[in-house]
Amino acid sequence: MVADPLDASAGVPYEALAELREVCPVSRTPSGAYFLARHGDVLAATKNIEVFQASFRAAGVVVPAEEQLISEIPEPRHGKVRRIINSAIAQHRISRVEPFVRALCHVLLDRVVARGGGDLVADFVTPIPATVIAHLLGVDPADHARFAEWSDLVVQSTYATRNRREDGADGEGLAGVAPDFTGYLDAMIAERKASAEPPDDFVTRLINTEVDGEHLTDLEMRTQLAFLLMSGNETTRHLIANILEAVCTDAVLFARLHAERDLVPTLVEESLRHDPPIHVLMRDCLTDITIDGVTIPAGVKVGFGIASANRDERTYDDPDAFRLDRPSAKDHLAFGGGPHVCPGASLARLEGRVALDVFLERVDQAHVDIGYRREPVPVFWANGPRRLPVDLTGVGPDASRG
Ligand code: HEM
Repeated sequence: MVADPLDASAGVPYEALAELREVCPVSRTPSGAYFLARHGDVLAATKNIEVFQASFRAAGVVVPAEEQLISEIPEPRHGKVRRIINSAIAQHRISRVEPFVRALCHVLLDRVVARGGGDLVADFVTPIPATVIAHLLGVDPADHARFAEWSDLVVQSTYATRNRREDGADGEGLAGVAPDFTGYLDAMIAERKASAEPPDDFVTRLINTEVDGEHLTDLEMRTQLAFLLMSGNETTRHLIANILEAVCTDAVLFARLHAERDLVPTLVEESLRHDPPIHVLMRDCLTDITIDGVTIPAGVKVGFGIASANRDERTYDDPDAFRLDRPSAKDHLAFGGGPHVCPGASLARLEGRVALDVFLERVDQAHVDIGYRREPVPVFWANGPRRLPVDLTGVGPDASRG
């Protein structure tokens, strides 16, 4: 019996996934869901939005339309909301955030370096993505830490709770889970609307952008702002932690990157393939569909095996190896595919690249604690180390800041 492909509580079950790809590419899981293991099937399924609809909430949980996260909004409305969000986080704007990310990474690493080491996940990695999103949104720097706490709170609670009242009516939504957070976002929107000269930030752009003559309502803006924080925080944290784990546990790789810094973007891409921060995407199957000879009935949950697809031997030579010479390094599915493909991919790549760059700049040698074993984070869909205890040696001063 093959292990449950959805269960990554002891780490992504790569051996079991390889067996599924070989003998049973469309399988039933112990919980009654279906699971797609091959790259081609997962990619095709991400594009098939008529049959597969995003599903993160517990059965029976319903939210008001204006509180639907962008991933849940059906077409054609999804396309419209997505165009508004895309234009607000356009690529050319993302590149402007690089100096902020670099300075932040230096400040965070200063403390770890001064102590000669620590837990890189807690002390260096965790604050980066939430602080960067808070900065992009235009949050007052004094509130950045509170913002990061809210992010964890809503990721843990929003999807499953408090969105349906006992009498069956729609519940109080996000405001019921994190009233301080929604109040904060509402105030940001109201202040910018009232101001004659609002700051040039993401919230102002969201207010001003229209598609087909339509603006988002205040509640829709608040929902999507909160979702940007939720979707961009935990994921990017695991990307950076996975990258650092790869280089800190392999002295040859670490030395090579020191000598060839232009390999940093390639390493980020290989990390996304080898250890995708989201190992599985869940969908509801809306109509019967047959894949590889197996009919998946309407009404069941389907897991798209992102981590499995990324190690498919039909797509990659030597798929379990971490290699920096792959010809089509960006073919992985870490950011999904189809109409819901991640709009934050450029920002995530930038953060991964800059965090590693600064780490290499500041750290001559890094050793993980003897006996280190990766403990996975306790989030069902996520794939990253909970801790990364290291000793750092031979550290040079931060020359870049004088
Ligand atoms: C390494 C980091 C990241 C990974 C691995 C990642 C992965 C993904 C994946 C797989 C999807 C597709 C979900 C689906 O099809 O159901 C997605 C969607 C999304 N991501 Fe990311 N993401 C990352 C970072 C970010 C960042 C930094 C942001 C924004 C600041 C972001 C915003 C979003 C949004 C808004 C969606 C929904 C898009 C839609 O449904 O049209 N993500 N992401």
